[in-house]
Amino acid sequence: MNAATSKYTVAEAADGLDSSTSAGGLRRRLNRVFPTHWSLMFGEIVVYSFVVVLVSGTWLALFFDPSMTQTVYDGVYPGLRGVTVSRAYESTVDISLEVRGGLFVRQAHAWSTHVFIAAILALLLRTFFTGGFRRPREASWVVVVLLLLAGMIEGFTGHALPDDLLSGTGLRSGLSGITLSIPVIGTWLHWGVFDGDFPGTSIIPRLYAVHAFVLPAVIAALIALHAVTVWLQGHPQFPGPHRTERNIVGARLVPTFAVRAIGLFAITAGILAAMAGLFQINPVWTLGPFRGAHVSAGSQPDWYMAFFEGAVRLWPPWEMYLFGRYTVPSVFSAAVVGMGSLIVLLIVYPFLERRLAGDRAHHDLVQRPRDAPVRTSTGVMAMSFYGWLTLAAGNDIIALTFDVSLNAMVWIGRIGLLLVPPAAYVLTYRICLGLQRADREVLAHGIETGHITRLPTGGYIEVRQPLGGTDRSGRAIGLSYQGARVPKQPNDLGASGKPVEGGWFRPDPAPELLSPLRDRVVTDATDPATTGLSERVSGHRRPACSGSRGS
Ligand code: HEM
Repeated sequence: MNAATSKYTVAEAADGLDSSTSAGGLRRRLNRVFPTHWSLMFGEIVVYSFVVVLVSGTWLALFFDPSMTQTVYDGVYPGLRGVTVSRAYESTVDISLEVRGGLFVRQAHAWSTHVFIAAILALLLRTFFTGGFRRPREASWVVVVLLLLAGMIEGFTGHALPDDLLSGTGLRSGLSGITLSIPVIGTWLHWGVFDGDFPGTSIIPRLYAVHAFVLPAVIAALIALHAVTVWLQGHPQFPGPHRTERNIVGARLVPTFAVRAIGLFAITAGILAAMAGLFQINPVWTLGPFRGAHVSAGSQPDWYMAFFEGAVRLWPPWEMYLFGRYTVPSVFSAAVVGMGSLIVLLIVYPFLERRLAGDRAHHDLVQRPRDAPVRTSTGVMAMSFYGWLTLAAGNDIIALTFDVSLNAMVWIGRIGLLLVPPAAYVLTYRICLGLQRADREVLAHGIETGHITRLPTGGYIEVRQPLGGTDRSGRAIGLSYQGARVPKQPNDLGASGKPVEGGWFRPDPAPELLSPLRDRVVTDATDPATTGLSERVSGHRRPACSGSRGS
């Protein structure tokens, strides 16, 4: 069955359902068009990796025992036999080494968490750099930021569950340390969360309830909310031929988009399964059980939480004193005030930009990052800040590997944190302007063809292929920039419109094959400086040039 027939059949079936039930508009919904830009895959990967996380997590829940009751290990791993461990730790080691397929599912759960959070981050960055958060999509942005936060907390609570030495260290510095640093209520809050002193016997069952029930429900609700807003508002799309603020150019939901979506789900699940089978992650039996008095060397948080750790490591040890009674440790300034403000800033960014730029217009077309240099540079500055803090979270490992003093690493981190983000801003701003100029240069003078011609005066120039044709005197007609990709090479000409003629199996059209010959005749016979080289080239201009008029 070809594509046209299948579309017809599905549409007819939907029509039938529409008329026989009260589900009006089903045909219209199935025919809905989605833009096909590759970056839209990030949102889909979020959903698909979440499905893998849910399925694998549910399977793990069948064997995991979230209890801190102490027991003596007597399983198959000789290195731990006779050691007193918690039931949570013992059951995780059992899942890994004794339950059939257990290690595979644990590793699938852990790897899909990384892919899930990375995909949310990529979705957020795509939305940021293309201005996809502008009116009317501010709410959608807030939902994705909340999704990222929920995903990070979910990953953190998951890591605490096995009760191994690394997870206990993370709990101590991440949850216990930061809670205790909160002025006035910190100690009470800590007693409330841990039900007593650290670590107590309640924290793992509590985190398990949050991890397996509360947060997955929150995440599922946020994903559903995001999907509903995208459905109601439509995907924003990049400018291009035939694209306006009022239409969407792309593929229909059924069959094209649906088939692609199923394919992408299979690819995501397949890659995650391959990673789970091939690459080891979090081998808790080698780390040993958590003991309050032990910290293994080189304990690092997961990459998505590392910026918190980096901020705490770099922040100077400045303590504050409130009312002469309360000591506010430096951890509070770095982790709660510093990182908390950054998260708030991330949430309110669309509203801030709207206010500062005064842009209250409705946007269904997104922007290329180069066209909003201030935003793009701000984004790269924020990314370099985040990246630098992430590096700082591993400064002990870097110091050990390169035999550098840890104190020197702290100072390099502090000075770099002040210098790297502004430098990234300036550099990105210049790159954006350079890219804008390069686009406008091609639109004004044409594409570089790689043909070098010698002028009668002895100089050499490169022949340009104008995108907008030539005027009577043979000069290129300049085009204005309209926010879409500009072809930079002859082979790119199909990129923004119809594909060029000719190809691997079909030769170029006859006039095009003859054109080099005609070029030579013209070159020999006339003065290129006066007749305009562009006219010769435009004689065999590819039809696809028309596509770039829109750009
Ligand atoms: C977005 C949702 C979820 C994320 C991001 C997530 C993340 C994680 C992470 C990072 C771990 C530590 C893995 C390791 O030991 O290396 C973990 C452990 C665990 N998760 Fe989840 N999880 C999610 C949902 C769920 C759900 C829905 C369930 C159960 C219904 C679940 C059950 C478990 C269990 C039992 C463990 C401990 C066993 C183990 O460590 O292998 N998770 N989770």
